[in-house]
Amino acid sequence: MAGLVITLSGVTKTFGPLRAVDDVDLHVPAGSVQGIIGFSGAGKSTLVRMINLLERPDSGSVTVDGVELTGLSDDELRRQRTRIGMIFQHFHLLNNLTAAQNVELALRVAGVPRDERARRVAESLAVVDLTGKADAYPAKLSGGQKQRVAIARALANSPTVLLCDEPTSAVDPRTTITVLRYLREVNQRLGITIVLVTHEMNVVRAIADDVAVMEEGKIVEHLRLDGTPLRPRTEIARFLLDDRLRLDEDEPEERRAG
Ligand SMILES: Nc1ncnc2c1ncn2[C@@H]1O[C@H](COP(=O)(O)OP(=O)(O)O)[C@@H](O)[C@H]1O
Ligand SMILES: [Mg+2]
Repeated sequence: MAGLVITLSGVTKTFGPLRAVDDVDLHVPAGSVQGIIGFSGAGKSTLVRMINLLERPDSGSVTVDGVELTGLSDDELRRQRTRIGMIFQHFHLLNNLTAAQNVELALRVAGVPRDERARRVAESLAVVDLTGKADAYPAKLSGGQKQRVAIARALANSPTVLLCDEPTSAVDPRTTITVLRYLREVNQRLGITIVLVTHEMNVVRAIADDVAVMEEGKIVEHLRLDGTPLRPRTEIARFLLDDRLRLDEDEPEERRAG
């Protein structure tokens, strides 16, 4: 279909008897921000890791940027993966490399020549306003700065898609806003399509165009964030939208079971 950068069709992933992702379809328009929300264990990470085939689906197809990934050879897959950047909750930086070297490593792996690497490292760090921290090691950086280095590393190969798995779950609320501002800029200024996984409705509401609500391996509902009032159909979407802390009510698990 035209205008879609990611199409998942009937993807399923099982771990033994567990259907971590169960027959999911997802269509992400080019240039949009797709949120994926759900409780811990819902299958969010497994789903997003199938978009770049870090996790191989048992069945179903994964098309990114017009290329169906599950049928590719290892070499072709490696090449296509450079079109898909990814960031994680715990940053996954190498502590023995500087910020610049962490970014450069992604370019080395992709086979980019040395002189071009230097230029792209500088450009990527500039996007996240970390030019001044190029030679700093991760131990000297704050959580927010580490995530910004991770964003720069993900951008270095000029991806069309950026996958974000709980990118703000390890930083404080103020830093969350900073990280989200950079992600919004990556989306709006560079036109990169973003898939953002979180368990926090505030986070997706801040930047997503559409939120897929996951429960027990399935997308049970989509919430369109187009300014019109949200009318959640499912109990879980209502619960996630109403993020007051209610200590006197049943546990979410019991609510869902009941
Ligand atoms: N490699 C794995 N081996 C076995 N079970 C897994 C593996 N990865 C995830 N799971 C299980 O699959 C379910 C979904 O996990 P995950 O995708 O990490 O959920 P979420 O990111 O929403 O918390 C969980 O029950 C989890 O324990
Ligand atoms: Mg997860």
